[in-house]
Amino acid sequence: MNVLVTGGAGYAGSVLVRNLLLEGYGILCVDNLRYGQNSLPDISAGENFTFIKCDITDRKLLKEIVNRNPFYAVVHLAAIVGDPACKREPDVARKVNWEASKQLFELAVERGISRFIFASTCSNYGKMANPDSYVDETSPLAPVSLYAELKVKVEELLLDRKNGNSEFCPTSLRFSTIYGMSPRMRFDLTVNEFTKEMALGRELVVFGEQFWRPYCHVQDYSLAILQTLKAPKETVAYNVFNVGDTNENYTKKMIVDELLRVIPDGKVRYTKIDEDPRDYRVSFKKIRDSLGFKAAFTVPDGISEIIDVIRAGVIANYEDPRFYNTPH
Ligand SMILES: NC(=O)c1ccc[n+]([C@@H]2O[C@H](COP(=O)([O-])OP(=O)(O)OC[C@H]3O[C@@H](n4cnc5c(N)ncnc54)[C@H](O)[C@@H]3O)[C@@H](O)[C@H]2O)c1
Repeated sequence: MNVLVTGGAGYAGSVLVRNLLLEGYGILCVDNLRYGQNSLPDISAGENFTFIKCDITDRKLLKEIVNRNPFYAVVHLAAIVGDPACKREPDVARKVNWEASKQLFELAVERGISRFIFASTCSNYGKMANPDSYVDETSPLAPVSLYAELKVKVEELLLDRKNGNSEFCPTSLRFSTIYGMSPRMRFDLTVNEFTKEMALGRELVVFGEQFWRPYCHVQDYSLAILQTLKAPKETVAYNVFNVGDTNENYTKKMIVDELLRVIPDGKVRYTKIDEDPRDYRVSFKKIRDSLGFKAAFTVPDGISEIIDVIRAGVIANYEDPRFYNTPH
């Protein structure tokens, strides 16, 4: 079965395409290589993998790709990712995250592609009204950044049955913040960044240590996509799932405490902020009950994994811009 993966050269995408190949899927990956071309060379010669350098705002090229290939599914990850990156380039973010997503969605419906999986985010929940409770898929969305606003807009388009047809099977996955090693590493994500700073013996400066967020390993991210692809259509069509594990909600302070367990002499400085627009604890009961999804990794696993890589000394320059989605 052939799958079109957009953004497959990215942090999550470069792990996903490898896992999909192992599962026997044929992959056509499109990406404009915004963060360089180091994440895919080893798999590019494989017969089940095709890479096309394509900006998804290029409707003509995207249409050619979609029309030329019999895809079973589209997994749409390409985006300007994160609040800071969208804030820095709002016009590009609107073009890529909204306009190009809408075009891709329309092409998929037109072409009769069966499955469409959209990478959304738990950031859509914004700030919880009651910090002692958990939000779930039925909770109101309160995006507080352009990044989340555009994700919500695409979800609305995708999940409205009148925009598709009865054969179409769109699913939105609201992912937790990801961590863990990837061929396109990102050191601008909380667990990865905190671990890197402390493992390198630097003083870690933490803002808003009391605010909650859920976390999910990059391998579990890809497992959720695989399970969605394989799930019966009636379970996932026009449906939305939070992706993560209810036990994997952490405050930043809790992540630091996990780090201090393995790096007891780690240096940390807390900087109090009383307000954070994003503060949410998320329930992942629906994906567990509907798809049997169970995260294989925990934040402490991710911390150990990154420390091992750092101690092995295989990364020459942690400040290389390719590890960050905004200038660092
Ligand atoms: N990283 C997280 O914590 C997280 C959490 C929730 C959801 N997500 C979602 O998962 C997806 C992947 O995130 P990521 O962390 O791998 O980000 P990433 O920035 O590493 O990957 C995005 C990829 O999209 C590509 N891209 C950007 N603009 C493009 C364009 N115009 N045309 C073609 N390709 C383009 C980039 O080159 C990059 O390879 C995104 O949709 C993101 O919103 C990520």
